[in-house]
Amino acid sequence: MSMPLEGIKIIDFTHVQAGPACTQMLAWFGADVIKIERPGAGDVTRSQLRDIPGVDALYFTMLNSNKKSLTLDTKKPEGKEVLEKLIRESDVLVENFAPGALDRMGFSWERIQELNPRMILASVKGFSEGHHYEDLKVYENVAQCAGGAASTTGFWDGPPTVSGAALGDSNTGMHLAIGILTALMGRQKTGRGQKVSASMQDAVLNLTRVKLRDQQRLDKVGFLEEYPQYPNGKFTDVVPRGGNAGGGGQPGWVLKCKGWETDPNAYIYFTIQSHAWGQICKALGKEEWIDDPAYNTPIARQDKIFDIFAFIEDFIKDKTKFEAVDIFRKFDIPCAPVLSMKEIAEDESLRKSGSIVEVEHKERGKYLTVGSPIKFSELTPEIKASPLLGEHTDEVLKRLGYSDEQIAALHAQQAV
Ligand code: COA
Repeated sequence: MSMPLEGIKIIDFTHVQAGPACTQMLAWFGADVIKIERPGAGDVTRSQLRDIPGVDALYFTMLNSNKKSLTLDTKKPEGKEVLEKLIRESDVLVENFAPGALDRMGFSWERIQELNPRMILASVKGFSEGHHYEDLKVYENVAQCAGGAASTTGFWDGPPTVSGAALGDSNTGMHLAIGILTALMGRQKTGRGQKVSASMQDAVLNLTRVKLRDQQRLDKVGFLEEYPQYPNGKFTDVVPRGGNAGGGGQPGWVLKCKGWETDPNAYIYFTIQSHAWGQICKALGKEEWIDDPAYNTPIARQDKIFDIFAFIEDFIKDKTKFEAVDIFRKFDIPCAPVLSMKEIAEDESLRKSGSIVEVEHKERGKYLTVGSPIKFSELTPEIKASPLLGEHTDEVLKRLGYSDEQIAALHAQQAV
């Protein structure tokens, strides 16, 4: 099957998670992604959080599938020469080093344009260019704090809380991927490349926009009716942490199910969608609430929303989370079980759809990884294992015109 990004050559000068997540997705869709790694060590995630001694860690394998690995010391003249050749023949260079690292290496945007005016330089940084924190190095949780997510996540009586979802890392990589594809489309019109960057703070903020909405509502009216603090708690002048409240116009909460005392994930998320009120009452056997003016509008329910949730909790206390969802789904109520990672790993539907795949790695054997969360009618990405360190060095150098003798000499010069 011909893949849409086939023929697009990407220099993957990324590490850790944000950049690799971006280039992995482009590789899934057919781009020829060559990951440049430091000889001897490679991407730091190869050796971080290892579960098998001496074998590439899952941290690396789950972010670098479908890529080639080229080892190159780009601070040495011979390595720089190879990188220059690659820049001349490639379409995109993606990097997520600390601010200024690429310039220090001698590959400023100006130099890259000299080498290849069609080149798209795509960068992830912690903060955007010109930001008063632009010099900072940033990891996931730092970005979640700087992007507004942490101050609005968790419970009101606890500290700011970070999410288990990689809002700073993989999410920024996804934003960058959209930027790269847009720049590629732009290049078709202008013939020129451009610099594309996504900051982790901005990418987190883009997902935290409803809280910026809430800040402005709070400034205007002094309260937020869908938050647990309403109507009896206190609001200050900043958006509070709302626990598990629904972030939109539909109230929701995490509800205990059978076994919650011992199983930390025996819960469902239940949403009281306003137009489903009648259905909710029927599901709960509380038909008398359907037309009761004390219950039949969202505003009427607001001051007793937690009593309603308590009633639902009582209704499902002898049902597992799966049984509870099976009851409510018949009434068209938006809800889902809280799934553990173990349940997700074993979920048949996720395997069937290719959202979780098992791949064979040369050294570790079979491992689970994520597949494309985007589904197409005309293509099915085939998820392949991540490359070993330097696995494709000779292949790439040959393609660039290096002879066997030159390759051997380069290996000797780059040896660590
Ligand atoms: N050959 C030679 N040198 C190489 C190389 C190669 N193949 N690959 C990287 N390097 C060098 C870089 O040039 C840099 O050198 P310098 O500091 O002398 O200029 C150095 O290795 C490492 O760069 P740095 O990015 O500072 O690594 P770090 O481990 O100290 O910091 C981050 C890691 C993630 C904090 C930092 O890269 C960062 O803030 N990146 C931007 C934001 C980001 O993406 N963060 C999320 C990561 S998931």
